[in-house]
Amino acid sequence: MSNYHIKSLEEYFQVYRKSVQNPERFWEEIAEENFMWRKRWDNVLSYDLNKPEVSWFEGAKLNITENCIDRHLYTKGDKTAIIFEPNGPSQKAVHITYNQLYERVCKFANVLKSQGIKKGDRVCIYLPMIPELAVSVLACARIGAIHSVVFAGFSATALATRINDCDCKMVLTSDGSFRGNKTIDLKGIVDEALLSCNGVDTVLVVNRINSEIEMKEGRDQWLQPLLDNAQVQCEPEIMAAEDPLFILYTSGSTGKPKGMVHSTAGYMVYTGYTFKNVFQYREDDIYWCTADIGWITGHSYIVYGPLANGATTVMFEGVPNYPDWGRFWEIVEKHKINQFYTAPTAIRALAKENLDFVEKYDLSSLKILGTVGEPINEEAWHWYNDNIGNKQSPIVDTWWQTETGGIMISPIPFSTPTIPTYATLPLPGIQPALMDENGEELTGNQVSGRLCIKFPWPAMARTIWGNHARYKETYFSAYPNRYFTGDGAMRNSTGYYRITGRVDDVIIVSGHNLGTAPIEDAINEHPAVAESAIVGFPHEIKGSALYGFVILKETGESRSHDNLRKEINQIITEHIGPIAKLDKIQFTNGLPKTRSGKIMRRILRKIAGKDTSNLGDTSTLLNPEVVEDIMRNVL
Ligand code: WTA
Repeated sequence: MSNYHIKSLEEYFQVYRKSVQNPERFWEEIAEENFMWRKRWDNVLSYDLNKPEVSWFEGAKLNITENCIDRHLYTKGDKTAIIFEPNGPSQKAVHITYNQLYERVCKFANVLKSQGIKKGDRVCIYLPMIPELAVSVLACARIGAIHSVVFAGFSATALATRINDCDCKMVLTSDGSFRGNKTIDLKGIVDEALLSCNGVDTVLVVNRINSEIEMKEGRDQWLQPLLDNAQVQCEPEIMAAEDPLFILYTSGSTGKPKGMVHSTAGYMVYTGYTFKNVFQYREDDIYWCTADIGWITGHSYIVYGPLANGATTVMFEGVPNYPDWGRFWEIVEKHKINQFYTAPTAIRALAKENLDFVEKYDLSSLKILGTVGEPINEEAWHWYNDNIGNKQSPIVDTWWQTETGGIMISPIPFSTPTIPTYATLPLPGIQPALMDENGEELTGNQVSGRLCIKFPWPAMARTIWGNHARYKETYFSAYPNRYFTGDGAMRNSTGYYRITGRVDDVIIVSGHNLGTAPIEDAINEHPAVAESAIVGFPHEIKGSALYGFVILKETGESRSHDNLRKEINQIITEHIGPIAKLDKIQFTNGLPKTRSGKIMRRILRKIAGKDTSNLGDTSTLLNPEVVEDIMRNVL
């Protein structure tokens, strides 16, 4: 039996049991046998979940890029590490071998060094899905700089908030990006963001779209000439196990985004291990995850997990509907993709289109299909299973979070029998618990509650950058000695988990987590707006869409509602990005509030979802009359 590669259900249960009975021994064996260390650890795990403090492989020294690149050079230097599929379907795909990746990462790392970046410095990466994005992430890791990738769909304001929160010294970007038949002026967004960032000394710019851009003297430089002059060798910085590898921001239900900090050794071991098992990766497989590296899925399962296993990983620059809705399947056929990992929102959008787009292509290379980001509805699951997997390819419904670093609950394909909408069983090392309203753990099966994890795992985020108190408060205060996920879940009679969705004020729109508070803050900046509340409502493709209830100031009441709606969405786009735009905006005279002044979102959620048969007790409201009024005018 191998702990590292589970091949049957029986083996899964054995491995799982071992991982719970002796977690330290379990992870130690995996770390020892499958990764490269400059110095062995003194202690596998120490933790106190109430502080919370967690430390894995303490005393160990390593560099993650040696694990993801250097060690493969002896045996598979000419193997393709990354296949880059450009936005334009007539443009040739680029195959980057492990040898070439080594060279590109080392050169890039030397450029970073020559620009004054050192171990521990934060570098913001705001790039489209082009090879330089993966290369720059690895280049930071090579020299111990902490990367903070910001999804290149975020606005200038959102980018500035993230740059300032962790004091980035440098920004890596491109002149622009291709997205379907559009181009986006990324450098312009960076320029605007940097008007409010004093700490950034250097901006390095990739030439992607050949556009005329302004280069600020003394700050901005084109990347290519610097790379041309850089040395090909770059000794890796030797890192301590717990040194931060990266920061990645995620939305909270309140306040500014949370910079989740991930460690080096634990993150590497866990993403490597879970990639191998959840995708049953074998040496010659071609693996494609359609996420953007700007999200955790891209960090863990486009870059680090696959490369730690010496895999071939595909990066796609474009969108699913350009030049038409067959693009994904064209790519699957062209590169003979074996594992395909995407989001339910993409599946729902693809399922709405004519099946001709699927049937035109040969999908017989596919072995495993994956989904992530939100609960997958049954209809979408069946469409995926029937039409893409031809009922032959198991679907891995993987539940996890930016905070967890890697996949937590998921079938092991070909071992765990799947059921639509169930993420099924916890991976080895993961100990879930469901909690009831009184904070007690629900034991036994056929129960629903709030999902917690009761034992540390190697890839858990260690803190929120600059705000450990918030880390503790958000994740470790609801239930003592447990990590609280913010999700609700049920466990069926066989012990399978089904994730039912967020139980806090985070709304998942097309797989993107959006906190209600930052959106409300943005809306409230509109001079005609007095107050607002956002809730999610069911949407056929996006899963959830946003519904805003807005109270106008007297001065705004005479304005055209259509214009106000446009302006409000414009402000949201500027503050956060187009992903946070509202689908519906209802103007109202009041919002239902408790006597202590809190907005009763539960009621608004029901009204927005047109599910008003049982509104619950409204008698405790300060202003029960507004409920009727809102219901009458619902959109
Ligand atoms: C949701 C994405 C149901 C969940 C990796 C979680 C899911 C949030 C699933 C994290 C799934 C993710 N089934 N819900 N398979 N996967 N979620 O941080 O609510 O972008 O808390 O990480 O997405 O989103 P994040």
